[in-house]
This record gives sequence, structure tokens and C-alpha cells, in this order.
Amino acid sequence: MSEKNILQREQWESRLGFILAAAGSAIGLGNIWRFPYLVGKDGGAAFVLVYLLITVFIGFPVMLAEFAIGRAAQKTPVAAFKAIGHPFWSLIGWLGTIAGGFLTLSFYNVVGGWTIKYMVASLNGLAEMTAVGQSAAFFGAFISNSYQVVAFQVLFMALTMLVVLGGIGKGIEKACKIIMPALFVILIILILRSLTLPGAGVGVEFYLKPDLSKLTNETLLDALGQSFFSLSLGLGIMITYGSYLGKDQHLVSASLWTVSLDTLVALLAGFAIFPAVFAMGLEPGQGAGLSFVTLPVVFSQMPAGMLFSFLFFLLLFFAAITSSMSLMEVAVSFGMEKFRWQRSRAAWILGIIIIILGVPSALSLSGTPTIAGKAFFDAVEYLCNNVFLPVGSFLASVFVGWFWLPKAKEELTNGGELQFPWWNVWVWCVRIVAPVGIAYIFVSGLKW
Ligand code: TRP
Repeated sequence: MSEKNILQREQWESRLGFILAAAGSAIGLGNIWRFPYLVGKDGGAAFVLVYLLITVFIGFPVMLAEFAIGRAAQKTPVAAFKAIGHPFWSLIGWLGTIAGGFLTLSFYNVVGGWTIKYMVASLNGLAEMTAVGQSAAFFGAFISNSYQVVAFQVLFMALTMLVVLGGIGKGIEKACKIIMPALFVILIILILRSLTLPGAGVGVEFYLKPDLSKLTNETLLDALGQSFFSLSLGLGIMITYGSYLGKDQHLVSASLWTVSLDTLVALLAGFAIFPAVFAMGLEPGQGAGLSFVTLPVVFSQMPAGMLFSFLFFLLLFFAAITSSMSLMEVAVSFGMEKFRWQRSRAAWILGIIIIILGVPSALSLSGTPTIAGKAFFDAVEYLCNNVFLPVGSFLASVFVGWFWLPKAKEELTNGGELQFPWWNVWVWCVRIVAPVGIAYIFVSGLKW
């Protein structure tokens, strides 16, 4: 890579490419693995409803805030606040870089590795894996086989590094332009299959008919954390992606597209999963094992199950890798800016550090190491999703809403050239609704 890349900032090559990359970051394990299992655990449609409200009134405004900061500064989150004249707020950038680029990615790539393992396993013995009562044992045996878990984690991370080495336009953007359309096609195939199974209707009802008595403070925190996690907010990702965006781009429409695509895929993933789970008479509520324990059983009971199982885990893999690229880009762009490393050097050094950070998470799936009573994996996941994400988003909305509004207006209207008809609504959201909502849910729902 040439000196030029260090001095002259890279940019997205096209508007579509940027939107697919931002959507690729947002659409991930969060949509296909995490969203459905939270819906299953937190009471079905009631959770979906809260999730949607939070996404519209808190997630979308915060995304817009992050894009605006990034594009105004044209810098990584750590340097961005200084560049726009508010160095004190660099805290947001540091928090995001450490929690997103390093910690979140360190456990994310462990689960990314599972998707590869399960793609292979689907083609290679779906029947044994799912023989009566066996699927939980299969999953348990896999995650407690530390060598395997680490090997697949390293493989997943190596693939991520390979793309990030290519840079913004030729690496991330290009990969997302191929992967994202494929992801949609697979998802549609799986939904058609799921909805046409006999007995699918019960699952649709569970998913769409809210029973509000099921809402608790914990549900609210889950929904909030999930909305931020799914939209890749609070950890500087969208600041980073926004910083590679040209001044002529329309931030409001880019955010609308990103949020809509992300929400659409989460909702669709539910349609691929719940009808099939109920059709086979299974339970949706066992949490993180939904994709890896329950679904293989569902697939094994349908004709051509191997194929559908493979497609499902390929979908999960595609979703995961476009997100891990974005997390890694935060770390890599930090290394390039802070230490003036070339991209390839940053990708190698930081990639290896991130892999090493992930190893305790990978190992802890079989019990140890633990932090304060939680398996390392669960502890890092909980801290990132339920603490750092809400805190990062809270700070970003307070900063933009109370300290940076005039500049934000300039940024969101491209210096007055574009209309932003809901400006007042947005101002309310970033000033009041988002900070108060986040603070309330955060304080009332936090539980180690
Ligand atoms: N949004 C991704 C998902 O749904 C995960 C992700 C990517 C993320 N970048 C992030 C989560 C930044 C939080 C912060 O799987």
C-alpha cells in the first residue's frame, strides 16, 4: 500500500456501495441469531413492538448523529472530536474503539467461527448431529472443544482480515456488494420454506400478536441493547463509516436506508425461524441456542434439510462477516491514524491482537476463565452490549443534541442545500427522548 493512502483519506466508491457497507455492518449475527432468540426468550411480539419503537425514536436519531460527526470530522472516532473542536468528547471515540474495534470483535469472531463449523457440519452428518436429543449435546461438545472453537475463530478472523486488507472501496465495499444481495436471496428462500410448512401459523401468531403482560425492565434493556447492537451504534462504527463519505452525500437518506434494511432483515429472520420452530413442535425460548441447537433439529425434519441447514448457516456467516469487517475497520483506521501505520500493517498487527483477546472468550465456553462469576464470553458480551453500547449512544446523543446542533444541521442539510423536514422531531429525539430513554432503561434494567 502506498504512502498516498496514509495522507489522502480513502472514500467509498459509490453511494450504493456505502449503503450496502453500512447495512452490511448493521445486518449481522445481531439480526439473524440474536434478535430471534431474544424474541423467543422475551415473550414474542411484545418484544418486537418495543424493539421497533426504540429503533425509530432512539436508534435512527443516534445513527444520524454518528454519521454527521464522522463526515464532518473525516477522522476516526478517537480524533474526530478534536477535529470538530470538542476534544473533551473524545471519550466517546476511545470508548468506541476499545469496546467496538477490540472487545466486541473479540467475542463476535468466536460466534462467527461457529457459523463456519455449522456450515460444514450441515453437509457432513446433519442426521447424527440432530438425532433425538443430540443437538444440544452436539453443540455442547463443539463449544467445549477448545481447539476447534479457536481454530474456527481464527479462520473467521483471517477471512475478515483478508477483506479489510483490501481497504474501503476495493475491500469492504466490494465484498458487501456481492455478499449483501446473496444474503437477501438466501433469506427469501428460507422464509418461503418455513412459511409453507404445515402448522407454521402458530409461529406467526407468537411472532406477531403482542401480549404486553410479558414486558419487564429486563425486556426493555434487552430491546434497547439489541437495537443499538443491531444498528452498530454507540461504538463509533458509523462515525468511522461516515468519515469515508463525500460531502455531497445525503446523510438522512443513507441512515433511513440503513435502518430500514437492518430492521427488515431482523423481522424477516423471525419469519424464517419461528414458523418452522413451531411447525416442528419445538420451543423458541431457550436463548442463545436457538440457531445452533433448535434449528438443526427443525432442518433435520424437513425434506432436503441438509441443503436448508447449509443455506441457513451460510446466511449467518455472510451476515457475520460483513459486520466483523466494520468492527475491524474501527481498529485498523485507528492504527493507521494514530501510529501512521500502513493499512496492511495495521490489519496484521491488530488482527492478531484481536484474535488473542478472543481466545479467553472462546475457551470460557467450556466453563473457565470467568469474570465475577460469569463465563468470560458472557461477561464481555454483557459489558459491551448492555453497558458500553448504551453509554456510548447516550454520550453521542447528548453531545450532538446539546453541544453541536448548529453544526449538525449544516451537516445533515449539506450546508443548507437539502431539506430535512423532520428536523424538529429529530432534535427532540437526540436531546430528550434518546438520553432520557437510554438512562431510564439502563438504570432500571441493569443486572449482572
Ligand atoms: N450490528 C452487527 C450485528 O447486528 C454487529 C456490529 C457490527 C456491532 N458493528 C457493531 C455491534 C458495532 C455494536 C457496535 O450483528
